[in-house]
Amino acid sequence: MAAGDLVLALTGASGAPYGLRLLEVLLAAGRTVHLTLSPAAVEVLEQETDRRVRLDRFDLGDLLGAAAAGAGPGRVHYHHYLDFQAGIASGSFLTAGMAVCPCSMGTAAAIAHGLSQNLIHRAADVHLKERRRLVLTPRETPLHVVQLRNLAACAEAGAVVLPAMPAFYTRPRSLQDAVDFIVGRVCDQLGVEHQLLRRWGEQGEASAAGE
Ligand SMILES: Cc1cc2nc3c(=O)[nH]c(=O)nc-3n(C[C@H](O)[C@H](O)[C@H](O)COP(=O)(O)O)c2cc1C
Repeated sequence: MAAGDLVLALTGASGAPYGLRLLEVLLAAGRTVHLTLSPAAVEVLEQETDRRVRLDRFDLGDLLGAAAAGAGPGRVHYHHYLDFQAGIASGSFLTAGMAVCPCSMGTAAAIAHGLSQNLIHRAADVHLKERRRLVLTPRETPLHVVQLRNLAACAEAGAVVLPAMPAFYTRPRSLQDAVDFIVGRVCDQLGVEHQLLRRWGEQGEASAAGE
């Protein structure tokens, strides 16, 4: 454990590529990542990327594919989503923050109401109670009023709600650019340096007026 460690949870919202890219970027930045995935995240991952992860026999290669070989210099500590013995289940275990990326509406609801039914909910609870950074990247559309209230409750409790809404003023040329925009904004919130996006006001910015 070190105060710079980060927690990353992937849940069952569409957008597995956001979570995968975030993990790669955190490892490239040399961060120690406490990683956990919900069963629904595994389903979505397979649907969206053809990668098959086993929660009981986790292998980073199954998750990151060929990128696992070059991943680093950071480190991954995997925690089963029902392992309440994991350090990240306790506030005494120091971390620099947590991202839930992507964040399903179900997990957002559980966090909003403090349900702590799995390690992801509990670790999020811990980050809120310890007043540490918690970044949620929800993906759902349209949103009904209960979902909106749940997201508002998370924000009121201190979470940063950072929806998977890529911007277009950066003139993305590929899906990867759009993914990197969101992952870059998550990294900004976690205090992780990156070069994933061109910032407004920097040289070479898109020339569209009015932004
Ligand atoms: C392919 C697929 C895509 C899904 N997309 C979303 C989504 O974009 N947003 C969402 O909130 N739930 C989505 N779901 C439903 C969640 O996975 C489901 O509500 C699940 O119970 C969430 O569990 P978790 O929060 O523990 O991951 C999707 C499910 C599947 C199988």
